[in-house]
Amino acid sequence: MGSHFDRYDWWDPEGLLLGLHTLLDPLRVPYFRSTLERVLPSGGRVLDVGCGGGFVSRELTSAGFDVVGVDISHAAVTAAGEVGAGMVVAGEGEHLPFGDGQFDAVVCTEVLEHVRTPAQVLSEIGRVLRVGGALLFSTPHRTRLSRFVLIDLAQRFPPTRVLPASLHEWDRLIRPDELERMLGRRRFRVEQTVDYTLAVDGMVGAVTALAALKRRRISHAQAGERIRLRAGPRLALGYLGHATLMDDGGRSGGASAIPPESGSRQSVSVDWPT
Ligand SMILES: C[S@@+](CC[C@H](N)C(=O)[O-])C[C@H]1O[C@@H](n2cnc3c(N)ncnc32)[C@H](O)[C@@H]1O
Repeated sequence: MGSHFDRYDWWDPEGLLLGLHTLLDPLRVPYFRSTLERVLPSGGRVLDVGCGGGFVSRELTSAGFDVVGVDISHAAVTAAGEVGAGMVVAGEGEHLPFGDGQFDAVVCTEVLEHVRTPAQVLSEIGRVLRVGGALLFSTPHRTRLSRFVLIDLAQRFPPTRVLPASLHEWDRLIRPDELERMLGRRRFRVEQTVDYTLAVDGMVGAVTALAALKRRRISHAQAGERIRLRAGPRLALGYLGHATLMDDGGRSGGASAIPPESGSRQSVSVDWPT
């Protein structure tokens, strides 16, 4: 077992991966936390699949959830273990080392785009969740904007490329409708998806931040802080959301079908310059 992510130090202030924390956590952590607090008002067992260095697990642990992290990368398991991200074990999302129905919720954030068989990972998540349990997810969208920002700018264009060239393959990114179909085949009902994209000054900010990062004038963490994300309806860069595991009869088990706060599909995409 091992992963591409073994070679990076998750919490290095100058390192690549802390950019994930500074860029995405302001958006996803409040969403995951508030959703979990609604579905599990008395707390519960939460599995973080592909937990990485524990950015999200640590926040959910401090919010009082009983969090277990699992990751294919030993470096990630060690890093998450060191920052108080709950119990952390090595394991593959495709073959989760847990019994059936053991968790009240599963978080899978920025992972499905990196696994060879996302459908198998989703099947495993459905197996370890109890009926009525929640899956919270986030992943990049497969749009022209994500191809331009994530692939062309961040991985290819010499003045701005700051990510390994093969970190994301655009063709393997999953659109929300595709994820919803995969989930539906596994007895999940998607309650909400929320698109996000760049903030008003996002594209200019993204290009200048990536160029500064490339020239080592700022760290990945600082770049993550400068590339601002917002929710919005067009040109999504990625999305997050949550789904409920139903029983064979299509019921949520009477427990925790989480009503979305308003509407099942929302967009948080940026004010895009027109
Ligand atoms: C982009 S990182 C996301 C980490 C964390 N979820 C976050 O968002 O902060 C992707 C993580 O998925 C893990 N991963 C990749 N393939 C996996 C698999 N098949 N099973 C479990 N973890 C996997 C990697 O080791 C890495 O830690």
